[in-house]
Amino acid sequence: MQDKTHLVDEITGHRRMRRNRKADWTRRLVQENRLTVDDLIWPIFVIPGTGIVDPIPAMPGVNRMTVDKAVEAAKMAADLGVPALATFPNVEMELRDETGSNSLEANNLINQTTAAIKKAVPNIGVITDVALDPFTSHGHDGILRGNEIANDETVDQICRAAVMQADAGADIIAPSEMMDGRIGAIRRALDAAGHQQVGIMSYATKFSSGFYGPYREAISTGGLLKGDKKSYYIDPANGTEAIRDAALDVEEGADMLMVKPGLPYLDICWRLKEAFGLPTFAYQVSGEYTQIKAAAMNGWIDGERVMMETLLCFKRAGCDGILTYFAPEVARILAKA
Ligand code: PBG
Repeated sequence: MQDKTHLVDEITGHRRMRRNRKADWTRRLVQENRLTVDDLIWPIFVIPGTGIVDPIPAMPGVNRMTVDKAVEAAKMAADLGVPALATFPNVEMELRDETGSNSLEANNLINQTTAAIKKAVPNIGVITDVALDPFTSHGHDGILRGNEIANDETVDQICRAAVMQADAGADIIAPSEMMDGRIGAIRRALDAAGHQQVGIMSYATKFSSGFYGPYREAISTGGLLKGDKKSYYIDPANGTEAIRDAALDVEEGADMLMVKPGLPYLDICWRLKEAFGLPTFAYQVSGEYTQIKAAAMNGWIDGERVMMETLLCFKRAGCDGILTYFAPEVARILAKA
């Protein structure tokens, strides 16, 4: 019965949202989205050498690892149930050049990493990026000709790099360089080389973002970058353009789509999932990770709680999974729950 001394009217009083929130068991019963270990992809950074685990100052808790240590990390991730890794190489400066030619060495750092991980831990998925930024002396994702990133020439090169990555054992090729026409071209190149089973996760909507800062420190591209990437990444102001760009990737044969960065772009996650229904992933990028870690280390937020909340929010926004540097930490928490 409505207490007439209160201002809540009778009609409103019948509709009490709090009934379903009143106890732990009702809350569990009505929970719409859940985060599981199956939702996690763990990006890792690899360096040349052996036996080294090198902390990245701008990403507290994240390390660069030599291939042997990356294999150990892959085993640990597989034991925790993490389905897949995404690998990023910090290539020696002497090997970087104008065209990123080291991307075409069959035994380069990224391919060595893939081969070693697939040999030791065959059941974890390995996702490799074909962007040229780890390999170029100017830090751009493509081949620089004058002041231009040469689209079609870059696509030709990343197709060859993609085939080599697949030869090394990569399960999914994830092109992040935002060149036009790359998805169809990579699909054709992979198929022609007999890699029909190798998938493509398109960084379909990659925005020109300040949130990539710590990543550039992690693979030492920040100091190299001449200018910016605005002529190929998407303007953060543009949602409809992002959907058009993703539509091309779907048409060209992408198996999965990705939105990057993650949390500031949840509207794009939702729109992509609604528009295409493809498996859709968000990349919670380095700057997003660092924000949470830094605030937590200062005691300003509850880091674990915020970490779990952000990841759940990706699920609510329609994502099938998340690339996150938190993956092992989250997997451990989920295993205890
Ligand atoms: C570039 C690339 C970027 C990231 C991964 N590959 C962005 C950039 O350096 O411009 C960012 C990942 C992160 O911030 O966590 N191909």
